[in-house]
Amino acid sequence: MTAETTSPALVTLEIDGRDVAVPEGSTILDACRRIGSDQPTMCWASTLTPVNVCRVCVVEVEGSRALVPSCSRRVEEGMVVRTDSEAVRHARKVVFELLASAVDLSLVDDSIRAWMAEYGCEPERFGPAAPPSDDRDRRQAGHHRRPTGETAETVHQPVKVDNPLYVRDYSKCILCYKCVQACGPEAQNTFAISVAGRGFDARISTEFDVPLPQSACVYCGNCIAVCPTEALMFRSEYELRQAGMWDPDRQEVVTTICSYCGVGCNLELHVQDNRIVKVTSPDDHSVTRGNLCIKGRFGYEYVQESDEPTPIDEVLARARADS
Ligand code: SF4
Ligand code: SF4
Ligand code: FES
Repeated sequence: MTAETTSPALVTLEIDGRDVAVPEGSTILDACRRIGSDQPTMCWASTLTPVNVCRVCVVEVEGSRALVPSCSRRVEEGMVVRTDSEAVRHARKVVFELLASAVDLSLVDDSIRAWMAEYGCEPERFGPAAPPSDDRDRRQAGHHRRPTGETAETVHQPVKVDNPLYVRDYSKCILCYKCVQACGPEAQNTFAISVAGRGFDARISTEFDVPLPQSACVYCGNCIAVCPTEALMFRSEYELRQAGMWDPDRQEVVTTICSYCGVGCNLELHVQDNRIVKVTSPDDHSVTRGNLCIKGRFGYEYVQESDEPTPIDEVLARARADS
């Protein structure tokens, strides 16, 4: 007996004056992409449940009082959507400006930079950045300092370099929750990190802000894989950037299969000067969906044992000696 398969019903809606039919259950973002109309996203990922926190993807839906997040709102029959109205452009511009005034967005994807240019973002209009502070991790919920209004408060805090595998630079954190989702119920189920604090003082933290080696972290690196701002970064990338040697233009990505066990995870080895400098995994793999374990993510040193160290080896050996 063969199992009967039924295709989901199609829903027809209008986006910027164009009709589009998509399977029931699709989001507005899915429908936009179906007609080649991409929208900015920061907290959305194809492998995670949308959490609707960044709001850069908002669109106007006829009959809706407020703008709606396209990454999570399901399509409905007859819906009329506008992605480029004045209200949409203004909302996205201000969201990007608020983020850029408080967070170091220097390493975001080029597409995000392009959207910010498209909307004419001017984060500097909120004033010069407030002096850096190193006490964000000690702030108590409810103990807010009154802002002077003369400077723009930032989320600055020193980079956390407390283990040989990856660094956490929360000055670049937009609090998109993706790392928390990846560490928690959506992938790793380790729950080593969560959000501490409230309001502007909210930040990602281990339990009681303990250093990573004393936390529940198992170094799968699945949080690094989903971070949209490079707040979470391979230690190798961090050290090479510090030394002025990180050069994506000279890197090639080699896809292979992890050799550690029989699961067969796909690895993307990022190789510079014949040295593996970081490892990712494809999001569209039906088994691993971009996730790996510590062995696949970080266990590549044995591949490149050499009697003649390259400049990259020397930078990384110094970092390991300091850990
Ligand atoms: S490396 Fe893995 S276990 Fe550690 S915080 Fe990130 S997702 Fe959680
Ligand atoms: S560290 Fe990265 S993934 Fe985690 S909340 Fe911040 S920006 Fe998002
Ligand atoms: S991408 Fe839709 S709310 Fe963040």
